[in-house]
Amino acid sequence: MEGTNVYMGFDIGGTGIKAAIVNVETGQLLTEKMRELTPQPADPKSVANKIKEMLDKFDYEGPIGVGFPAIIHHGVAKSAANIDKKWINVNIEHLLTEKTGMPFYAANDADVAGLAEVKFGSADSAGTVIVLTIGTGIGSGMFLDGKLVPNTEFGHLYFKNSIYEHYISNVTRKKEDLTWDEWGKRFNGYLKHLETLFSPDLFVLGGGASKKFSKYEDQFTISTKVVPAEYQNDAGVLGAAMYASQRVSS
Ligand code: BGC
Repeated sequence: MEGTNVYMGFDIGGTGIKAAIVNVETGQLLTEKMRELTPQPADPKSVANKIKEMLDKFDYEGPIGVGFPAIIHHGVAKSAANIDKKWINVNIEHLLTEKTGMPFYAANDADVAGLAEVKFGSADSAGTVIVLTIGTGIGSGMFLDGKLVPNTEFGHLYFKNSIYEHYISNVTRKKEDLTWDEWGKRFNGYLKHLETLFSPDLFVLGGGASKKFSKYEDQFTISTKVVPAEYQNDAGVLGAAMYASQRVSS
């Protein structure tokens, strides 16, 4: 499948890898989203093999974007909080391009999910928008009038001798068996902290826990507007494809 505005996106997570071909102008997925389990251990070689295997099942040749759960600086992973440590300092773009023969473009997973939400979600993207993805970790994407400030890593702000991610992720909610009210109160504290630091115009909550938004939204007492992400599970692949299209045309 090829054509103007047609790109492919991969979303690499600690538990699953998703992929689809999308139209980056309309935000439409042109294929079913393929989902496979992330190989364990999720080292670079095993993940690259899995990506090649998934890609071979698609009828696609062209630029491919990939969202990856780490700081990504010029295609290179600079952290590995929820993925195998062997990724640190690996050039993801070179690795996957060599493995598949296709041009790959890599960026942080929450940054690319945010690109999709800001362009296609119903939220108004004017001013400062902070998109947070709530899953195994806490991902963040910050946008000023629709333009991304990459690698913000707000989930790693220090809190109680640790980092916020360990206190408010969806994994922690389940591990500590928190009710939605209890978890919502914790999350409200986190939003308050971000509100003080950045005075955003809007927070968009994505990732697994965003589907349950109505169960905890009453706990939010901040003055900034908070909305659930519209694209939720598709934002990762859609945003990754958008990122590839931006890199190709830059
Ligand atoms: C990582 C981020 C990532 C987030 C969500 C965090 O642990 O440090 O880079 O965006 O998890 O996957």
